[in-house]
Amino acid sequence: MKKNTKLYEIVAALMAPGKGILAADESDATAGKRLSMVHLPNEPENRQDFRELLFAAPGTEEYLSGVIMYDSSIKNFTDDGTPFPDVLTAKGIVPGIKVDLGTVDLHGFKGEVVSQGLDNLEERFKEYYDLGARFAKWRAVITIDDEELPTDAAITMNCIILARYAQLAQAAGIVPMVEPEVIYAGDHTLQKAEMVTTRTLQILFQTLMTYKVDLEGLILKSSMVLAGDMCSEQSTPEQIANATMRTFHMSVPHEVGGIVFLSGGQTPKRSTENLNAMAKLGAQPWPITFSFSRAIEEPVLMAWQGKPENIPEAQKVLLHVCKMNSLATQGKYDSAADAILK
Ligand code: G3H
Repeated sequence: MKKNTKLYEIVAALMAPGKGILAADESDATAGKRLSMVHLPNEPENRQDFRELLFAAPGTEEYLSGVIMYDSSIKNFTDDGTPFPDVLTAKGIVPGIKVDLGTVDLHGFKGEVVSQGLDNLEERFKEYYDLGARFAKWRAVITIDDEELPTDAAITMNCIILARYAQLAQAAGIVPMVEPEVIYAGDHTLQKAEMVTTRTLQILFQTLMTYKVDLEGLILKSSMVLAGDMCSEQSTPEQIANATMRTFHMSVPHEVGGIVFLSGGQTPKRSTENLNAMAKLGAQPWPITFSFSRAIEEPVLMAWQGKPENIPEAQKVLLHVCKMNSLATQGKYDSAADAILK
């Protein structure tokens, strides 16, 4: 298959050393959950205000290479009428878009889901490309539960769908950011999470190769390997980093363009500490960075509280969070000295 080197340029820009990605790609419903943390109603104006605060914040381009948006935000504007993707592009930040349309039950497999959104995806990619998007995320959900879940059948179905979306993205000149999220909620052990994540990534990359997806023009968005949030035995950042890297070495081909992490419901501080511990393990075959949503947005929301007079302070907090995560990608985050991340 002919290589599309433009995809590699986008990957290189997104994985630039010391930079990471803000996932501001909540659906309108999920954005409402974020706003409710500061008692704001889920209204379009509030969603727009928060996105404008994030996207237009001065200085973030030093630490952010990309921002993932949602359908309603990539088509939205600042108060002065500048399209959100243009605000990002002007700062040298690559606009991205979440393209899956959420999950539905996988019939016959209780507790397991598949992501939907392949219908009309070619047309949607054309539209998003014209709006400025150069990478696109698709999230699949893998749930760990007792001895049974996840099933290979559910993992395989999700991976085939991920491969189809990745093919269509690359054909449209858009870098796929392929996200099989192994869910953190639960009482499973670190060992179980490592086993499931390894199995999932092995099936994923076998499937991507079967369908001739160009791995160099693709980014993996992964969960960190974590004991479930209800597990009685929690792990240190070093244990998490070791388990996560073992998993990647067992399953991620070296030509993959880069690996980014979701935060998955961990606290902002813990997400950054774990990222820092990964970097401390030294250079890996792939560039590795963050692509957090909650771990970046929550401290900013708390500083903002929906009040216009708090915007400059909230933007400073955003800059701080991005800077701390940038330092963490280099193994230079000093958790004890950081009073802002909780
Ligand atoms: O799909 C997940 C998001 O892109 C990352 O969100 O960092 O809150 O887990 P999170």
